[in-house]
Amino acid sequence: MGGVKRLFGFALRVIMYLWRKPRYRRYSFSAYIHRVNFITPRYVECGRQVYVGFNARIQGVSKYNNAYFFPSIILEDGVSIQQNVHLTCANRIVIGKNTAIAANVTITDIHHSYEDISIPIEQQDIKVGFVEIGEDCKIYNNVVILPNVRIGKHVTVGANSVVNSNLPDYCVAVGIPACIIKRYDSITKAWRKTNPQGEFID
Ligand SMILES: CC(C)(COP(=O)(O)OP(=O)(O)OC[C@H]1O[C@@H](n2cnc3c(N)ncnc32)[C@H](O)[C@@H]1OP(=O)(O)O)[C@@H](O)C(=O)NCCC(=O)NCCS
Repeated sequence: MGGVKRLFGFALRVIMYLWRKPRYRRYSFSAYIHRVNFITPRYVECGRQVYVGFNARIQGVSKYNNAYFFPSIILEDGVSIQQNVHLTCANRIVIGKNTAIAANVTITDIHHSYEDISIPIEQQDIKVGFVEIGEDCKIYNNVVILPNVRIGKHVTVGANSVVNSNLPDYCVAVGIPACIIKRYDSITKAWRKTNPQGEFID
C-alpha cells in the first residue's frame, strides 16, 4: 500500500514538473509549490529543493499604466517560503540559497506614487527598486521587506519587523524600522549585542 502511495506521489510530481517546466523561467524537479493564490511563472526561477507553501502570491509585474517592466524573481536552491507570502516584483527580487521565509511575509520592489492628489494612488505610476536577500537567512512571520534593500548572509529578521534599509552579513535585526540588535563577532566567535548602527555595546 505504501509503495503504491509512493509511486502515485512520484507520478504526480513528474506530471507537475512536466506541466510547470515550460511555464516557469526555470523550474527544478525537486521544487515543490503548493496551491498558490496567484503566480506569474514566466518571471520566476525556482532552484533545487525550493518549497513554496499554500496561498502564496508571487507576482511579476510586466506592465503598469503605460510603463513596461522586466521582472525577475529568483528563488535560489533550498529556499523555503511558508504560507501566504506576498511577493510583488517589477524589477528584481533574489532570495539566496537556503533562506527560509516564514508565514505572511511581504517582499516587494514596488512603491505606488502618491504625489498627484487628483489621481487615486492605486492608479498612479509605480516606482521600482530591487530586493536582495542573502543566503542562509531566516525571515520570521509577518515581516515586510521594502524596495531597495539588501540583506546580507545569515541574517535573522525578527517577527513583525519592517526592513527599509540594508542589513549586513551575520546579524539579527528587529522592529519597525528593523534595526540591528546583535552581530556575530568573528574575533571572539560569539554573537554580541549592538546599537542600531551595528557597533558592539556589551
Ligand atoms: C529575532 C529573534 C529570533 C531574536 O531572538 P534573540 O536573539 O534570542 O533575541 P532576544 O530575545 O535576546 O531579544 C533581544 C532584544 O530584541 C527584542 N526583540 C526580540 N525580538 C523582537 C521582535 N520580533 N520585535 C521587536 N523586538 C524584538 C527583545 O525584546 C530584546 O530587547 P531588549 O534587549 O531591549 O530587552 C526572536 O525574538 C523572534 O522574533 N523570533 C520569532 C519567532 C517566530 O516567529 N517563530 C515562528 C516559527 S516559524
